[in-house]
Amino acid sequence: MAAVLRCPACPGSEFRMAAADLVCTCCERRYRPRHGVLDLAGTGNAAGDRPYEGFWATVYGWVMDRPGRQRLDAWLLGLDVRRYYREVIARLEGCGAGPHLELPCGNLPFLELTEAYRAGGPWIFADLSSAMLGKLARKLDADGADGQVLLRADACSLPVRDGRLRTIVSLFGLHCFHDKAAVFAELRRCLHPEGKLVLSTLTADGSALSRGYHRLNQLDGTFAPAATAAEIVASARRHGFEIEDEFRQGSVFLCTASPRAPEHGKENTA
Ligand SMILES: C[S@@+](CC[C@H](N)C(=O)[O-])C[C@H]1O[C@@H](n2cnc3c(N)ncnc32)[C@H](O)[C@@H]1O
Ligand SMILES: [Zn+2]
Repeated sequence: MAAVLRCPACPGSEFRMAAADLVCTCCERRYRPRHGVLDLAGTGNAAGDRPYEGFWATVYGWVMDRPGRQRLDAWLLGLDVRRYYREVIARLEGCGAGPHLELPCGNLPFLELTEAYRAGGPWIFADLSSAMLGKLARKLDADGADGQVLLRADACSLPVRDGRLRTIVSLFGLHCFHDKAAVFAELRRCLHPEGKLVLSTLTADGSALSRGYHRLNQLDGTFAPAATAAEIVASARRHGFEIEDEFRQGSVFLCTASPRAPEHGKENTA
């Protein structure tokens, strides 16, 4: 993984290994995993994102640990949860050889539902929440899978070298990110020119009930102001992604996208 990651303080940097440490070749700072998690979050998130710690980490972990409990989603989001699971699993199983990044990984709800994380890889699982990463470290330990890296990282400023990732899986994260433009720019930067982005998010397109759920979660900053699927597609395109296929239902948008070669003279904005 030393060839994929970079120091959060030094954008042009590389890592070299020294015993169990990753050492930045630019500032010489040493990074070592603690309790299975490598912390490359740097100075943290400036956009106002609120990683799931404390109460939210417990509640979210409890709900997402059992697919049956997500029937709540069918009611709240107007979603056929089984169909959503089938769509995501098919995409995970199409990932092939890595390196792959799942961000935000939360408690990795698909771990028990597919062999994709054990057959392919290597996988990096990243989130800004120490609590979610701690839960996932214990879950992966129990699962016995190896060759995976758990990373504390900010979606707005990924500690990944340019063009290194074959797949980025970003499930139900975008609606939590306040600076979507910064996140799309980072996803595009880190993805290999032939890589794929698998993205799902909640949108502002659902029923009054799901819009209310969204607003409730915006009160403390857990969710960012809602965007429609059309706005998300437009933002992805502005940042150099081509949508290959998509699934929209209720307030859920899921798609596979690939990087588009930049058009000469055009800049990515907004
Ligand atoms: C709705 S959960 C989704 C988790 C998982 N992908 C899933 O589908 O269950 C959103 C996650 O985003 C994380 N998060 C919030 N802001 C973040 C940021 N700026 N960078 C990385 N992760 C972030 C939270 O800690 C939380 O685990
Ligand atoms: Zn450095």
